[in-house]
Amino acid sequence: SALTCGIDIGGTKIAGAVVDGEGTIVAEARVESPATDPSAMETAAAGLVAEFAAAHGIAAVGVGAAGYVASDRSTVLFAPNIAWRNEPLGADLARLTGLPVVVENDANAAAWGEFRYGAGRDVDDQLMVTVGTGVGGGIVVDGALLRGAHGVGAEIGHLNVVPDGRLCGCGNRGCLEQYGSGTALVRSAREAVAASSLLARDLVDRAGGDPAAITGPMITAAAQEGDRFAIEQFEQLGHWLGHGIASLVAVLDPAVIVIGGGVSEAGDLLVAPLRATFEHELSGRGYRPTPEIRLAELGNRAGVIGAADLARI
Ligand code: BGC
Ligand code: NA
Ligand code: ZN
Repeated sequence: SALTCGIDIGGTKIAGAVVDGEGTIVAEARVESPATDPSAMETAAAGLVAEFAAAHGIAAVGVGAAGYVASDRSTVLFAPNIAWRNEPLGADLARLTGLPVVVENDANAAAWGEFRYGAGRDVDDQLMVTVGTGVGGGIVVDGALLRGAHGVGAEIGHLNVVPDGRLCGCGNRGCLEQYGSGTALVRSAREAVAASSLLARDLVDRAGGDPAAITGPMITAAAQEGDRFAIEQFEQLGHWLGHGIASLVAVLDPAVIVIGGGVSEAGDLLVAPLRATFEHELSGRGYRPTPEIRLAELGNRAGVIGAADLARI
């Protein structure tokens, strides 16, 4: 069957891939995301598509976008971490590339990729949580993506977990994203460094002495090498995600929960504390089937694979 292209537009990078009808990647590329400049992002995404089209010939383009995508599957109404406000992303990309384009929320696209070809391929009901710049959600119910009446459902990053908590890019306070994202990981590490540099000596060294230079991958590397402070940062993140997921499972009762996004590359450092809080807070625990928590199988490629697949249907 024909090849399609999947593009994943997030707060830090734009990834693209050419994908066949079995979900196999034929070619891929990525560039930095100029997240404060919507037209530069469109130019960058269209550039990737043009390269793919020239080299492989593609029938359609699916885009996963890190924001609230309207039910026209083209307009990004709003995004907390990208400067999109009523952005006609799909229409613009169709004009720039001359190809049919469908836009889907980035976490929905990743969830679809895992559901079709990855960690959820054996079930009908799946909750996916993506942990990256933000916290994304993708919900598959009875084999279909849950989009809501207006396309913007499944925004689990904006579930309130702390009354009057940290201010969020969505305009509210206390959203899960402010406690469970890669951004939150880096922020809490920097804050702790500023308050007590001795606990975080190893991390500060990795950052060349500058707390502002601490990055997510640095915290992951430190935790993997056994640094107690870095491990605790993941424990906090996992705790908040497990807390949010326990509430979601009370509503959705999925068969599996898939954890993906860049931060999930930390594996058990994140998933073990997440699972512990989840099992501790699940309502009816001990008397109900407990959904299995799995790591994404497609890694950070779930979004492009899912988006390319959505371009076919
Ligand atoms: C946005 C979502 C997106 C998620 C992951 C959140 O801040 O509201 O639309 O899916 O980040 O990128
Ligand atoms: Na979503
Ligand atoms: Zn929010």
